[in-house]
Amino acid sequence: MIKEKIKNIFPKENDILSKYKIEPVICDDYLVDGKILKFKGEFRDVYSPVCVVDKNGNTTQMFLGKYPLMGEEEALKALKAAMKAYDRGKGLWPTMSVEERIKHILKFVEELKKRRDEVVKLIMWEIGKTLADSEKEFDRTVDYILDTVEALKELDRNSSKFIISQGIYAQVRRSPLGVVLCMGPYNYPLNETYTTLIPALIMGNTVIFKPPKFGVLLHTPLVRAFASSFPPGVVNTVYGDGQTVVTPLIKSGNIDVLAFIGSSRVADLLKHQHPKPHRLKCVLGLDAKNPAIILEDSDIDIAVKECISGALSFNGQRCTALKMIFVHKNFQNVFIEKFVRELENLKIGMPWEDGVKITPMPSLDRITYFKEIIEDAVSKGARVINEFGGETNHTFIYPAVVYPVTPSMRLWSEEQFGPVIPFKYFEDISEPIDYLINSNYGQQVSIFSNDPERISALTDVLVNQVSRVNLNSQCQRGPDILPFTGRKDSAEGTLSVSDALRVFSIRSLFAFKASEANNKIVKEILDKRISKFISTDFIL
Ligand code: G3H
Repeated sequence: MIKEKIKNIFPKENDILSKYKIEPVICDDYLVDGKILKFKGEFRDVYSPVCVVDKNGNTTQMFLGKYPLMGEEEALKALKAAMKAYDRGKGLWPTMSVEERIKHILKFVEELKKRRDEVVKLIMWEIGKTLADSEKEFDRTVDYILDTVEALKELDRNSSKFIISQGIYAQVRRSPLGVVLCMGPYNYPLNETYTTLIPALIMGNTVIFKPPKFGVLLHTPLVRAFASSFPPGVVNTVYGDGQTVVTPLIKSGNIDVLAFIGSSRVADLLKHQHPKPHRLKCVLGLDAKNPAIILEDSDIDIAVKECISGALSFNGQRCTALKMIFVHKNFQNVFIEKFVRELENLKIGMPWEDGVKITPMPSLDRITYFKEIIEDAVSKGARVINEFGGETNHTFIYPAVVYPVTPSMRLWSEEQFGPVIPFKYFEDISEPIDYLINSNYGQQVSIFSNDPERISALTDVLVNQVSRVNLNSQCQRGPDILPFTGRKDSAEGTLSVSDALRVFSIRSLFAFKASEANNKIVKEILDKRISKFISTDFIL
């Protein structure tokens, strides 16, 4: 049954219901200095993870459209526009009042909402995310922006008073940093891009935005929304290969903040390209290999349910996914057996199908990689323990449970970012603890237990290894008001609705010695409301 389903997983084009079909999108518009320009150069074709079968029985990835392969010249034009709009802090945007900036962001949200159907469909087709999850990604992004607005109002209200200490009066606020380069990941191409782009903008920075390798076309409908919502040069778009367009931007020394969600390898390369690395503030969401640790006293049903969802939501393509599962030796047979049974109940298919959980991957290269890491583990003594685990059909791979995975195998330490689930049993709790201590990653961990003593002892050690310990639940970023960060190769900086506002700004003070003359000057400034910074106005 599963084998048959894998063999026939891809539809004929005519079998796809018209409401799910998509017309190719030619992304030739780009936004620089408030103008939507037509790109004239070379383009890259975009293919979906979803394949279609033609009348001769050939299976090929569906053509979705094209995006520009820009060069250094276009990239530097975008930089010039962003620098001009920032104007070394003198520009309209960085000097605008918080209230006014909020109005622009709210206008953008309205424009964004109008394009929901189009963007959701493109997320689904471009990265193969289920329709339900693509909708969730869109709605979560809108909520994130609205929450950001509220958080900024709160921040501003708290800054609308003077602090008095040792005869000094000071008003402490937050000011922008300059030009921000925003680069999001392909697995959350809308949400994770906007969780940096929106806080960067709302704090008064100007932005150059480059979409990831997969998940480019979905931004096409939003270029006009940016153009109509923000003053010229505040948002500028760049498309193409990172090496070609990003390298000259960083090398120029004129990028003040790098907001990048991707691999630590690329982050290191970029950071070192800056002529004065200390001037480049980095906000990075990087690699992770979050383990689950299942103790023998845990509730098996909960542990299995959470581990299935943790390891396989969006086919394991989440930075927070569970990527290594440690089960207590006395518990392993019953746990693994139930895990495999639940896995077999997951519906495989096309992203628009109701209740589908496992969908195709973004490229054939990914499939080759998964085969390699499974072969590597098998050659070193592991087994794929679920039937049809690792079976492929073009861009589709059936999830593989690999057991037991040991330190010499690539799956032990590499972030697989896909539906390959390594298991290892342990007898002594020091084994999974040592795994985390020796790991290059330090994002999160999930522990499964019902014993308060064990949970406490483990948590007290693990909070010094990772940045979030989850009890009896999978790892995750949300809710978005919680801090999201990591140690070692997993992150730099902390994101959450309120933290992001801090990350993209710096504290600035206006201070004066209390004296009759100074008090009179400041009182006049406040009464006449002539400064945006020196102000006790309270945003409602
Ligand atoms: O890819 C990493 C995302 O930040 C994970 O977010 O835990 O909400 O899926 P999530």
